[in-house]
Amino acid sequence: MTRTVVEARNLTVSRGQTPVLSDISFEVQEGEVFALLGGNGAGKSTSLLTFLGLLEPTSGEALVFGKSVQNDIASVRGKIAYLPEAATLYPHLSAYENVDYFLSLAGIGRSRADVEEVFDRVSLQQEARDQHMERYSKGMRQKTAIALALLRETPILFLDEPTSGLDPVAIDEFNRLVTNLAKAGTTIVMVTHDVYGACQVAHKIALLRRGTLVGSFEAKNGERIDTETVHAAFAERAVA
Ligand SMILES: Nc1ncnc2c1ncn2[C@@H]1O[C@H](COP(=O)(O)OP(=O)(O)O)[C@@H](O)[C@H]1O
Ligand SMILES: [Mg+2]
Repeated sequence: MTRTVVEARNLTVSRGQTPVLSDISFEVQEGEVFALLGGNGAGKSTSLLTFLGLLEPTSGEALVFGKSVQNDIASVRGKIAYLPEAATLYPHLSAYENVDYFLSLAGIGRSRADVEEVFDRVSLQQEARDQHMERYSKGMRQKTAIALALLRETPILFLDEPTSGLDPVAIDEFNRLVTNLAKAGTTIVMVTHDVYGACQVAHKIALLRRGTLVGSFEAKNGERIDTETVHAAFAERAVA
């Protein structure tokens, strides 16, 4: 049995006077990794913000577990953890202090053992955990931000350009983590401009071009979505 966890239904969103998303529809099933792929300014971040209830659709609906985000934000809020494009953690605090601080702001209590377990899962080096984050590499900062999202223990994760600026080793670690989370039942919606990265992890890819969905791709028989096919579609649309 599959169940739809995240759904855009003829979603149209404007920022200022300009429509930024036009009549987009997609469905994400439980335990799926869904990637919304598109170039700069395509409307990727806008779509995530709409699902978080931070932007209002002009028409259509953003649905989470079948409930309209706009009508029922209270029931949706606890279901989604969000990794923003530029995650802001405090450089003068350690990873432990950052997660404790942000979890307490959200009214969430987690034990040190829970935090250690999640830091282990994201492979944040043991010896770095109590150092100020100003000494961290981009990859280590991203691991801490992902750990913070995981510590919220929500069934859905929204990730905005999660691998941008990471080196290939960090990207491989991230891909493994996402794959394992999805296998354990977490539903993952990520937005990215990285064709290769999307094909590495996503069960479904929707291609977004200037606010309109122009293609969709699905992994078949447990295989990966073909990078060349998606790249060709992305590039073709970009010059059209
Ligand atoms: N705060 C804002 N106010 C008005 N327009 C915005 C704002 N943020 C983004 N936009 C516009 O919305 C469009 C989509 O932006 P965005 O969703 O951030 O794209 P992406 O994440 O795909 O790069 C762009 O044309 C951008 O200029
Ligand atoms: Mg963006």
